[in-house]
Amino acid sequence: MSAHRLKTKALCRRWHRCSELGEETISGPTSDIVVTNGRLVIGPQVIQGGVAIKDGVIAAIGRESSLPDSKEVIDVAGAYILPGVIDPHVHFREPGLTNREDFASGSTAATIGGVTTVFEMPNTVPPTAGADAVMAKRELVKPKSLVDFGLFGMVGQTNVDRIEEMAEAGVIGFKFYLHQTIEGMPPCDDGALFEAFQRIAAVGGVAAVHAENPEIIGRCSAHLRAHGHSDVTANIAARPTVSESEMVARCIAYARAAGNRLHICHVTSAESVDEIASAKRRHLPVTAETGPQWLWFTEVDAAEKGMVLMFSPPFRSEGDRKALWDALQDGRLDMVATDHAPRHREEKLVASVWDAKSGFIGVETNVPLMMGAVDQGRLSIQTYARISSENAARAFGLWPRKGSLLPGSDGDLTIVGVGAAHAIEAERLHSKAKVTPFDGVSTTGSVKYTILGGQVMMRDQNVTGSPRGRDVVRA
Ligand code: NCD
Ligand code: ZN
Ligand code: ZN
Ligand code: ZN
Repeated sequence: MSAHRLKTKALCRRWHRCSELGEETISGPTSDIVVTNGRLVIGPQVIQGGVAIKDGVIAAIGRESSLPDSKEVIDVAGAYILPGVIDPHVHFREPGLTNREDFASGSTAATIGGVTTVFEMPNTVPPTAGADAVMAKRELVKPKSLVDFGLFGMVGQTNVDRIEEMAEAGVIGFKFYLHQTIEGMPPCDDGALFEAFQRIAAVGGVAAVHAENPEIIGRCSAHLRAHGHSDVTANIAARPTVSESEMVARCIAYARAAGNRLHICHVTSAESVDEIASAKRRHLPVTAETGPQWLWFTEVDAAEKGMVLMFSPPFRSEGDRKALWDALQDGRLDMVATDHAPRHREEKLVASVWDAKSGFIGVETNVPLMMGAVDQGRLSIQTYARISSENAARAFGLWPRKGSLLPGSDGDLTIVGVGAAHAIEAERLHSKAKVTPFDGVSTTGSVKYTILGGQVMMRDQNVTGSPRGRDVVRA
């Protein structure tokens, strides 16, 4: 083992005592870039210091005096240095839906928002539902991407037998839409779902589910429509909490029997959190995400703000909203994901909710909003480092390459600060479709730099790097 690797190992063993690092020399004499004068968030510790990156990976962390010389030195003036933020749920709409977004615009929004890695969803045209589609998408988007990316493969009723080839093609996970029919691809029935989970267990993959019960939603929607309900609250009434929590519980039951890893997308309710917490107590490999929209808004806001808050799964009660914050804090929920789902004004802000498209952007506003919440004391910075990066990397088999500031990890840094309150302006965001309910919402969080593989991709809200994103494959 080389001296460097030995020292890295020693560091790993002692990371919980890394405030002692200042006295150590843990890398070669020079590096490509050194970030200094920051606050490093490493496990439970926040230490004054910096990070040196060489050949795209972290070469050293610690006090300034211990860091190697470098061609490029960035003084971040006391800002927090987090492991590069991962957004594990974005829709960049490529191929086929690029009037809403594409990888160039989506990854620009991501890098300006402090995100270094995204996991991208497969409900495109055509859907990413076989090895051919996975490989074609990778070739298509790689030359345009400013961020590293993992690609989800889609599983529906008709392609359960393509799970193995998609695993071979290097998907980050398998996505199930249990509530809706994607063109030519009906959702899995229970038999197909259970078989799919068994096949995913066999290839060591992760099943990620949009957990909503289509039969409950279909029946409620029909009733509401027949009674002439057509505002945004009808989407909430059509999707009662049990339509989510029952599907969460069902997926947990199947995953327990099949033995696969399970990830629950966009959790919105206390009831679903309870199901997930119970699975975690039983030591099942179940993880879950929620997003800023459900942490900020409730059904009351939907009634007031109207169609802009058309989203599925929908907004719940104040009690649910509080439960999501508590669950992020204590680990019953694992990570923040935006479900960045660009929709144009014309397809969304329409008269009847039954014609309105669900979704809105989020990848660019996520980190500033969540850092504002850290500033308000809703979350500690250590918790935020876990739920913004480390836990997603662990759940999808990328840790410690991603989600970590240890020597040997990818040189991905999100450098953030808190300061004066400023309002989010939708028109200044970088997605193609700018509708967001966060327009005008104030935050004190801001992203100063985004560094990907040692390259400064964003500085003071300007893109400074060129596309260099790589596909990340589950280990
Ligand atoms: C997503 C989309 O637009 O692709 N929309 C949404 O409301 N969440 C699909 C999804 O994540 O379910
Ligand atoms: Zn979804
Ligand atoms: Zn009615
Ligand atoms: Zn989604």
